[in-house]
Amino acid sequence: MTISTFKIANKLITGTGALEALPNEIQRLEVKNPLIVTDEILQTAGVVDQVTPFLKGLTCGIFTGVKPEPDFSVVHDCTNMFQEGAHDGLIAIGGGSAIDIAKSVSAFAGFEGKLTDLVGTDLVPKKGVPIIALPTTAGTGSEVTNISILSDKEAQLKKGIVSDYLLPDVAIVAPEMTLTMPPSVTAASGVDALVHAIEAYISVHASPITDALAIYAIKMIAENLPKAYANPSHLEARENMATASLMAGMAFGNAGVGAVHALAYPLGGRYHIPHGVSNALLLPYVMEWNKISCMERFRDIGSALGEKVSHLSDADAADQTVHAMKQLCRLVNIPSGLRAFSIPESDIPEMAEDASKIERLLNNNPRKLTQKEIEQIYQAAY
Ligand SMILES: NC(=O)c1ccc[n+]([C@@H]2O[C@H](COP(=O)([O-])OP(=O)(O)OC[C@H]3O[C@@H](n4cnc5c(N)ncnc54)[C@H](O)[C@@H]3O)[C@@H](O)[C@H]2O)c1
Ligand SMILES: [Fe+2]
Repeated sequence: MTISTFKIANKLITGTGALEALPNEIQRLEVKNPLIVTDEILQTAGVVDQVTPFLKGLTCGIFTGVKPEPDFSVVHDCTNMFQEGAHDGLIAIGGGSAIDIAKSVSAFAGFEGKLTDLVGTDLVPKKGVPIIALPTTAGTGSEVTNISILSDKEAQLKKGIVSDYLLPDVAIVAPEMTLTMPPSVTAASGVDALVHAIEAYISVHASPITDALAIYAIKMIAENLPKAYANPSHLEARENMATASLMAGMAFGNAGVGAVHALAYPLGGRYHIPHGVSNALLLPYVMEWNKISCMERFRDIGSALGEKVSHLSDADAADQTVHAMKQLCRLVNIPSGLRAFSIPESDIPEMAEDASKIERLLNNNPRKLTQKEIEQIYQAAY
């Protein structure tokens, strides 16, 4: 058995009503003047109001400048407010975008160098102020991972700050905070969670611990994403999706994600397609490529997706599994085809060049890919 490390947020508190734990957690972490990191949509939708009753009697500031798929400038703006207000902790209320900004601000606020010096793996020199993550989407799992993903506008790429110092001090996963998510965000973030679980399950760095989390997450997402999409106020489906995305986050936070994410990054960086949608566009085509490297794992995934695959040959079971992934994305109305997003076909070689450089992710993938093969996958997905 190979040695593997398993790391997640320092503490997880889950379940409807879990927000009640917030005052104790703030006190335990000795935070006296936190900065809330969120966006205007979440404020207008009343999601921030779900949290404020638990902050009574506390001085705190609020930064509402988070944007979807945020770039470096948002970290600078939030860090300025953090420093001007002499804050001593961060409470992220939002999806992956808000949580990732809080993580980056925690790392950058006490750092002497430039923000770009932190981009890469293990370049954050020390632990920053406490991070409390309150996810409002069921997708990224950012509340338990050690990465903050930022868009580099100039390079037209998404880049990651990866450091264990970014692991939140506490994640409070209260599914009632996801009830206001519009169906398009439910679908995109839910498919992101599905891709995290699938890529973690077939990663070369998978372990029995990440396998258990990933396969159960796939099953829960297949059963609950269509329900949460069809009926936004379906609390049980929201609870199951919140748990599944957390489990998928724990799985990929340790086993890693692979080529779907690597090929999706240029779509986010260049054309600002939401992260989950970029993943969904590439999922069936990358899996078509991957399937011969680990057919028995594809059979397990098929089973978890609810397919009857036990009587099929390895090849047929893998085909049915890829088909089921496509079907699930279709059920929640994620458009297929890069063409639908007005991506010029002539950009494919440059996109393939960008994706081929994302070795951090491609190294987790069960089947190797050359730049030419990446180009062929984009072409198939066009
Ligand atoms: N750090 C990680 O481990 C990790 C993993 C995967 C993805 N990501 C990153 O996370 C970002 C995507 O995050 P996301 O998919 O959670 O979406 P998001 O945070 O970008 O939110 C999408 C939109 O939905 C709105 N929204 C979110 N929750 C809502 C709610 N409950 N009610 C109403 N509106 C709501 C937001 O205001 C926003 O406009 C991307 O930048 C992606 O690269 C990070
Ligand atoms: Fe993702």
